[in-house]
Parts: sequence; C-alpha cells; structure tokens
Amino acid sequence: MIDIDTVSYDTKIPNNVGLSEDRRVLKALEKWHPGYIDWWKEMGPEGFQDSLVYLRTAMNVGADGWAKFDYVRMPEYRWGVLLAPQKQNRVVPFGEHLGEPAWQEIPGEHRALVRRLLVIQGDTEPGSVEQQRHLGTTAPSLYDLRNLFQVNVEEGRHLWAMVYLLQKYLGRDGREEANDLLMRRSGDPDKPRMLGAFNEATPDWLSFFMFTFFTDRDGKMQLESLAQSGFDPLSRTCRFMLTEEAHHMFVGETGVGRTIQRTCEAMKAAGIEDPNEIDRVRALGVIDLPTIQKKANLHYALSLDLFGSEVSTNAANAFNSGIKGRYHETRIEDDHRLVDDTYPVIRLFDGVPTVVDTPALTALNMRLRDDYITDCTRGIARWNRIPAKIGIDFEMTLPHQAFYRQIGEFANVHISPDGVVIDDATWAAREGDWLPSPDDGAFIASLMHAETEPGHYAGWIAPPRQGIDNLPGDFEYVKIAA
Ligand SMILES: [Fe+2]
Ligand SMILES: [Fe+2]
Repeated sequence: MIDIDTVSYDTKIPNNVGLSEDRRVLKALEKWHPGYIDWWKEMGPEGFQDSLVYLRTAMNVGADGWAKFDYVRMPEYRWGVLLAPQKQNRVVPFGEHLGEPAWQEIPGEHRALVRRLLVIQGDTEPGSVEQQRHLGTTAPSLYDLRNLFQVNVEEGRHLWAMVYLLQKYLGRDGREEANDLLMRRSGDPDKPRMLGAFNEATPDWLSFFMFTFFTDRDGKMQLESLAQSGFDPLSRTCRFMLTEEAHHMFVGETGVGRTIQRTCEAMKAAGIEDPNEIDRVRALGVIDLPTIQKKANLHYALSLDLFGSEVSTNAANAFNSGIKGRYHETRIEDDHRLVDDTYPVIRLFDGVPTVVDTPALTALNMRLRDDYITDCTRGIARWNRIPAKIGIDFEMTLPHQAFYRQIGEFANVHISPDGVVIDDATWAAREGDWLPSPDDGAFIASLMHAETEPGHYAGWIAPPRQGIDNLPGDFEYVKIAA
C-alpha cells in the first residue's frame, strides 16, 4: 500500500506514486535523469551550481506543512514526482463523459490530445529556467537570489511532473517527447521552445518579477483547467503543481511591489511629485513608474498570447472529451456540457474591437483569458495601494487586451493601450510611450548590480516585509561558493 501523503525518498527519484514497485517507469525515468542533470548544468542558473541555497523540498503533499527547508546545492536538489492525493469516487466533471468515473489511464481516442497538452505544458517549464539563467549575477539581495533559485528548481520539478505522465501513460511516444523536452532551447532559432513568451529574453530583475507575475499566472490558469481533467493522474499532478505555483506569483507580485515602493519612497524623500519627471526620478537610482508600467504592458500582452486564439476548435475538443476543463469548473453552475450555450468573445469588426456572442464550446480560450484578466486586475489593485499609501499620485493599469498582440484576432493590427485601432505611423510614433525602449532597458540594466551581503538590498528595490520560512531578511539565504 502506497502512502500517498508522504513522499518516499528510497528511490533515486523521490515520489509518492509507488515508483519502487513500478519498475518499467522507474527504469525509464532513471534513464532520463542523467540527461536532465546535464541539461540543468548546461542551462540552469549560471555561476551558482556549487552555492548552498536555502531551498524548500516537498516532503508530503498534504494541504499544510508539506515542505522542508535546508541548504542544498542545486544540482543535488531532489526533484521528485508528486501527485496530490486521489479523491475517492471522482468523476469526469464536464464534457460528453460528464459523470463517468474519472480515468486512471488515458482513453485510447484521446491519447494524441493528452500528449500534445503534456508536451506544451512541459516545454514551458525548462523554457523559463533557460530564460532566467543569467539573472543570478545581478541579484538585488541574497533573499531575491534564493527566490529565483526556488522558482527555477520547481520549474525543473514541473518538467519532471510532465515527463512522468509522458513516460507512464504514453509509452514509446512519451519517451520520445521526454527526450525532446531536453533538446529545445529558449530563444534558439533552430530549436526554440514551443510558445512565444518562453523565447523572449529576461534581461533584468524587473522582467523576472513581471514574468513571474504575468506569465506564471498564465501557468496557474492552464494548470487550474488541467486540474479539472477527467484523466485523474493529470488532475492530481496539476493540483500539486498549483501549490508550488502560488510561491512563484508571490515572488512576482512582491518583487514588482517592492520596486514600486522604493521608487515612491525615493520620490517622496526628494520632493518629486510628478511621476513623469523621469530624468529626476532616474537620477535617484530607482526605476520611474512609467517605465514600470511599460514593462507591465509588455509582459501582459505576451502572456495573453499564451491563451491561443479566441475561437478554437481544439479547445472545444479538449473540453468535450473531458480532458481540459474551465477555471473552477466544479464551482460553476451550469450543465458542464455547453452544447447550446454562448459566450461573449471580443473580435475585430470594421476596425473596432467588438464583443460578439459565440458558441461557448469554441470560446473556451477566451473564457480562460477573461478569468486570467480578472486575476491580474486584482494584483494590479494591490500594487496601486503602494503609491496611494506613500502619497504619490500614480495608478498602474492593464492595457486593453487587444494591445500588442501576436496571436489571435488582433495579431495583424496596431491597437493602442486604450483599445483603439491605429495606423502604422501612429504606432511608430507612440510605441516608445507604451513599451520599454532600448533606452529604458539600458537604464534598468545600469541599476542591476549584485548585492551579496546578507540583509543588504540594491537601491532600486525595498526589502521584503518578512523573510522566507520565518527567518529574518538578513539571513544568509545563499552561501555563494568562492
Ligand atoms: Fe511551472
Ligand atoms: Fe511557475
């Protein structure tokens, strides 16, 4: 009998799925392991592989107290396969199989669909580690450095999570996909990662914080809808990943929040009231608020693209077949089949973004994106309390969802942050007001210097309100190897 709450560390691969009794899958994973470690050493955090990092490792998958904190060298981190506990008598909660017992194997006719979803999700995980690998050398504090590495090792674990499902349930096809996941590289022209946002550069720490706020939040929405899956092992896998994902978004939200805070405090101390006095604000060694807004605009637009086309038959198939549900599916009060329902979708009509009722089944990407936008809006409101409290007149906003899009309905038009279609000349004239320019990037880069004294923070960011694991902010979260 497998104790699914407690993680077994008796095999090379920590797990709560009874791997020691599942020789075929254990062997396959042990074969994959060295390639993964090679990938981590080649593409993981650059320059810190020998450092001792104060990391959390999952010890059980219960609702609380699941992690243990200790110093670890990252290549020795115990990446494991962890699924949330199985729910008794769980049924397929939506689609044409609604109410049937949840599947413990992938139904034959849905194998191709599940394979594609696992690979797309799996590909994002190493992608973000690759994007962030240069950031360690400019960390604003040891606390932030540790948080970066925590996110990185957990994204590595998320790759393990998808690879386990591929190896266990998809046989030889799964093995091939698992190997390919180690071959692609973020930003590589010949073998890029599969989704656009995971091929963008993450050049500085503000980008990292924006990425973990906006792009990890897309990850959360995707995991939430896969957590509803009628394929039970996928559901359980995603449910546990979500507990880790919460920390990633915490890192992003507090990171941007601390940046805003420091800027506002510096402005206040210098007697600067107008956030648009950019040169004066920058002279204080902090990032001006309009530039922070531009960074948010960029990362928001890139993340909206991850939801795919507004109208999609793939999304309809994934729902109909019981594989990918809606956000909080089981809390929604409707028939969970959507056969005759409609959903309002934003489309371009006569050059104007217009809301049109569309068959709900094909509008599921749009619906998930709407849920995402609601979630982002709450985070922005929390950021806006910071200038208000310090007494600086500035509000962050989300641009219109059609702004700067590369995928879907608005990919081929220029749209202002207010949602107005504009011509090429207007776009060219205004782009620098709305998106970070090379000059903005160079200024931010000029502030990025490593702060390696425990308890010291770079001048552009405020210290956190509290440390990790109830430790003080001046704890030595990373012991950097000489
Ligand atoms: Fe992840
Ligand atoms: Fe994440």
